[in-house]
Amino acid sequence: MSHVFHRSARSVPPLALSAEGSFILGADGRRYLDACGGAAVSCIGHGRDEVAEAIAAQARGLAYAHTGFFTSAPAEELADLLVAGAPAGIDKVYFVLSGSEAVETALKMAHQYHRERGEPARRHVISRWQSYHGNTLGALAAGGNRGRRTAYQDLLVEMHHIPPCYPYRGMAQGESAEEYGRRAADDLERAILDIGPETVSAFIAETVVGATLGAVAPAPGYFSRIREICDRYGVLLILDEVMCGMGRTGHLHACLAEGVAPDVMTLAKGLGAGYLPLGAVLVSGRVHQAFADGSGGFLHGQTFCGHPVACAGALATQTIVRREGLVECVRAEEPFLEGLLRDAFAQHPHVGDIRGRGYFWALELVEDRDSKAPFPAGARLAARVKAEAQQLGLLCYPGSGTVDGQVGDHVLLAPPYTATRGELEQMVSLLGETFDTVFD
Ligand SMILES: Cc1ncc(COP(=O)(O)O)c(C=O)c1O
Repeated sequence: MSHVFHRSARSVPPLALSAEGSFILGADGRRYLDACGGAAVSCIGHGRDEVAEAIAAQARGLAYAHTGFFTSAPAEELADLLVAGAPAGIDKVYFVLSGSEAVETALKMAHQYHRERGEPARRHVISRWQSYHGNTLGALAAGGNRGRRTAYQDLLVEMHHIPPCYPYRGMAQGESAEEYGRRAADDLERAILDIGPETVSAFIAETVVGATLGAVAPAPGYFSRIREICDRYGVLLILDEVMCGMGRTGHLHACLAEGVAPDVMTLAKGLGAGYLPLGAVLVSGRVHQAFADGSGGFLHGQTFCGHPVACAGALATQTIVRREGLVECVRAEEPFLEGLLRDAFAQHPHVGDIRGRGYFWALELVEDRDSKAPFPAGARLAARVKAEAQQLGLLCYPGSGTVDGQVGDHVLLAPPYTATRGELEQMVSLLGETFDTVFD
């Protein structure tokens, strides 16, 4: 009998014993091929000694020093490294331990920023439906994942949501991708004008939408238009790259491919690659300056912010990513992975859309390809795909509610950047076998 409060209150998941490269070994003797990096986390592969050693050395030397008293060498070095590769204007890094905490921190930072500048009326946050920003209450309220929000609706503070930029279902007949991108971005301007421009604090969006929609990249020009609108109304642009950042899309930050620099950006997952939890908020010099010129400090902080051992683990991870050219590798191998997916599934009667960037891909599953009609929610398709794949030794990340929070299904793939071509082939082949069984 297990005393752990598991995700299911009715069953205990298999015991994971060890992991190496792209595989997790179960106590059942099976090797599970990790095609989703858990949840887009394990980007450098499992079991890298160099990271384990960096963590052990830091724990021996300085496990913990509260950031109210000290800074630490790994936090300083990691911040230098992150700022060096960041979009234009980013100059500071605030370390936390998870994606949700990074989002909470970003929202509070935007709130205080406006107060520091003498605009206390700015309190509204706008985000998008069909997005996810975390499970703590503030991040959940900002997110637009109806399935995850519903049970906690009574606890969520008011936030404002605009429709997502979702070309597969949002683009009108005869509309170009650029026209759609502009139209979708203009929803933000309408929302700002409705709410009252002088009361809006921030707009938060995933640059490439992850778990809720399944690897949906923005339409061309969408984020440059969003940037223009934010600037016009003095609204901070927060890009949530917790899932799509740190090389996942073949760019160190997904927004670099859009030519757009946020005021604030959130990171986690691939930053520490799962060796230890770490999240970060990247902040523009302009935003930080408002704190320096104003009250002098951010009214926030948690006991384990900037944890030296977590920073040391992430520093070793990011050193490997750079030394081994893994972001470049993801970009170079993107056509190979895309080709495998298109060869295997472009004609599949229940695959409506194949989309993604880098090593971040999704298949949207439909009952009928012509009408794009989804399967009914009662079919529990995503759950069945996940269970069947795991039976076959494949770990993938299906999601449901893809269309509108209620119906629709997709399967997300986010392999380690170190996966070999043979492993990528095996992932796609096992996914094909999974579909054969589930759709039989
Ligand atoms: C885009 C995005 N933001 C925030 C989060 C929350 O991160 P965490 O689960 O580490 O709290 C996630 C997690 O999946 C995410 O995908």
